Amino acid sequence: MFTSIHREGTYTTKYDDAKQKFGTDDLMPLWVADMDLPSPLCVQESLAKRAAHPIYGYTVYPPRYYEAIQTWMQKRFSWRIEQEWIVPCYGVVPSLNFAISAYSEVGESIIVQTPLYPPFVSSIETKQRKVLDNTLLYKDGKYSIDFEDFEAKAKEARLFLLCSPHNPTSRAWNEEELEKLIALCLKYDVLIISDEIHADIMYEKIHHSVGSFESMMHKCVVFNAPSKTFNIAGLNTSYAIIPSVELRQKFIQEQNSSGISNGNPFGIEALISAYEEGDVWLDNLKVHLQSNISYVSDFIHKHALPIGIVPTEATFLIWLDCSKMGLTQDELIAFFCYQAKLGLNDGLSFGEAGRGFMRLNIGLGKEHLELGMQRLLQAYILE
Ligand SMILES: Cc1ncc(COP(=O)(O)O)c(C=O)c1O
Repeated sequence: MFTSIHREGTYTTKYDDAKQKFGTDDLMPLWVADMDLPSPLCVQESLAKRAAHPIYGYTVYPPRYYEAIQTWMQKRFSWRIEQEWIVPCYGVVPSLNFAISAYSEVGESIIVQTPLYPPFVSSIETKQRKVLDNTLLYKDGKYSIDFEDFEAKAKEARLFLLCSPHNPTSRAWNEEELEKLIALCLKYDVLIISDEIHADIMYEKIHHSVGSFESMMHKCVVFNAPSKTFNIAGLNTSYAIIPSVELRQKFIQEQNSSGISNGNPFGIEALISAYEEGDVWLDNLKVHLQSNISYVSDFIHKHALPIGIVPTEATFLIWLDCSKMGLTQDELIAFFCYQAKLGLNDGLSFGEAGRGFMRLNIGLGKEHLELGMQRLLQAYILE
């Protein structure tokens, strides 16, 4: 069930853009955050059924779409949400942009926590707001939040763009950490915009949406999607959960002003089938991904490679600490790309705090991953 399949002929970013990204396509692409694994059968069947109807016109969001999201939130996260809180969206990144425009003015300050998925910072900069970087603390191979620094920054911030769970560090924030962040945001009247797109793939911990905290619910905007979870990112179907009427109206206005209105018929079908029937598949996927994470960790230890693995609490992305390899960032990229022939994400693309790191995507079949790790080992031996 969780075996990599070939993606040729599907115009895939990970493979078809590899040459442009790395300057060569003679490598195994392990970068873009989607998986080389097939979506669950329920999704495949619902899409095939929809495709069999030969009209793909403008499409509305049916009650079943909203109910599927409500039920998913309740059963996976014990979060009861009202139907009217849900705002259908295109991708999460466009929504982050709409949120920045809707809730802040040019020149105002926005907190982020780097190293971080690059569109957070670039969206703030493009919209001419000021980035306040509450850089995560990195100690003994683990990440934590610098709350003192956060408080200092919260005093002058309008918004906080939270990534929960966090990409690329794969940290799953625990309840106490979120409570502290929420308390500071309430104290200084900072609105939380929370990107929770990776919430379904958490291993040991339980995801707590910031929106599920009573005190924060009218002071936050949550974005989520089935896209990472069920490998349907190309369908560009996500949603916002906004309990506050006022915040919701502002967001909808901003989104409408961009011209986005109707839904993607395939995205709607995929979301409904995934959320209605994808539970067991997802539970099995997590077991598979955990086994991949253990495999990488064991392999690195067994062969004494000088690479640290930051504990992967969530996502199918492993954050590799390569600082002990003794290479500059350019040398590190060249080592992975041209010697190991592996296309990982450059840690520095996640901000200065990512220097010395690389991000590895393990959303693969086991044999595929083993091949990748063998390439890494061979390159290291020959170095
Ligand atoms: C934290 C985070 N947010 C958003 C996205 C992209 O979301 P979308 O494709 O819905 O714009 C990604 C993709 O990697 C991500 O990691």
